Amino acid sequence: MKKFSIVIAGGGSTYTPGIVMMLMHSLDRFPIRSLKLYDNNPERQKVIADAVALAMKKVAPDVAFSYTTDPEEAFTDVDFCMAHIRSGGYPMREQDEKIPLSHGVVGQETCGPGGIAYGMRSIPDIMQLIDYMEKYSPNCWMLNYSNPASIVAEACRVLRPHAKIINICDMPVGTLRRMSYIVGKTPQDLDVRYFGLNHFGWWTSVKDKDGTDYTPQLIDYVSKNGYLTQKAIETQHMDASWQETHRKAADLLAVTPDCLPNTYLKYYLYPDYVVEHSDPNYTRANEVIDGREKNVFGAARAITASGEFKGDEFSIDNHASFIVDLARAIAYNTHERMLCIVENKGAISNFDPHAMVEVPCLVGNDGPEPLCQGEIPTFQLGMMNQQVAVEKLVVEAYCERSYQKMWQALTLSKTVPSAKVAKEILDDLIVANKDYWPELH
Ligand code: G6P
Ligand code: MN
Repeated sequence: MKKFSIVIAGGGSTYTPGIVMMLMHSLDRFPIRSLKLYDNNPERQKVIADAVALAMKKVAPDVAFSYTTDPEEAFTDVDFCMAHIRSGGYPMREQDEKIPLSHGVVGQETCGPGGIAYGMRSIPDIMQLIDYMEKYSPNCWMLNYSNPASIVAEACRVLRPHAKIINICDMPVGTLRRMSYIVGKTPQDLDVRYFGLNHFGWWTSVKDKDGTDYTPQLIDYVSKNGYLTQKAIETQHMDASWQETHRKAADLLAVTPDCLPNTYLKYYLYPDYVVEHSDPNYTRANEVIDGREKNVFGAARAITASGEFKGDEFSIDNHASFIVDLARAIAYNTHERMLCIVENKGAISNFDPHAMVEVPCLVGNDGPEPLCQGEIPTFQLGMMNQQVAVEKLVVEAYCERSYQKMWQALTLSKTVPSAKVAKEILDDLIVANKDYWPELH
């Protein structure tokens, strides 16, 4: 059986140890001969990588492990690049969240002005990763779950249309797991129909392989509880603020009672509520810096200091096993059904064929083949038309270095009340992002 060579881009991420542990526990279904970490931040990566090296020595001594900040070393002789980079790191996430909030607008890493700002930072970094991959390993596939995935995907469509990159998000996967708990099944038992943009979509059907339809049962449950479930969801989304987001899905469903909503719609349907319940001085970035980042980096430093990995210091990120499913689908041509972010091309028949949409796809060794979802209702269509225009304007603004188009993008976002507020936020974002964004004129 062929063994694969992997590079993880974003080696210094808080998610990297959990993903490495998940990969090592999946070796029987996805054999790996070499694992490399790559990051452009040597200090962060070293902390994680030194500990991961000790962990690998213990749990998978046969897999070659290394880490580097050199693109040639990282991208030479690799079959898959798993990319979860965060351009600007958590300090810039904090700015993305706090600047809009200081103007009374939703402050979120991927939605509204924060997501737009992050998009402008991510585009050049992802394009650079693609270029490294194509130069050093032209047959490699990039499995990208770097955010903001919708803007990144649109930039790939425009700037690197032939690249072997699949953009994917863990949110529908995590929600499907919750749904499976609610109806007493496993995620593998369930097939869904879904349409939308990334962090902006709806399920229209959830059935098992026999065709039993669980949609009415789920609608009934979610209308009362949102996606909150008794069963703990491993290590993902355990913080109180995330639980609140899952509960809020009940109010999202009330707007579209036939369609089960993606939790991110709360930023577009209830922005006033979100702003009222946000602390402009302590946002999700602060929670992550004080929580997940402290825990993961603390555990890594402790492992390295003791010189030995005992076995349970890094939890296995099972919620990330969709990455293995995706890699397997390509490597073994499994045609597994998964939600991916792909060019519409008629999958949503009454929507822009050139929009990057999130729909179920069959994934094989040529990549994802979208499944037709047909016509969507007027309400969702209206929201998606508005949001996709925002995403396209950001990419156009990046390509043309256009201040005007960035202003239009912010003005059009459903989270922003007026062109005046949009301009004020944009001018603050430009200052905060001066080391990252191209100069706009
Ligand atoms: C979900 C989304 C990801 C996002 C993450 C943020 O899983 O799908 O795109 O990055 O949430 O979680 P955090 O714990 O960093 O707020
Ligand atoms: Mn996501």
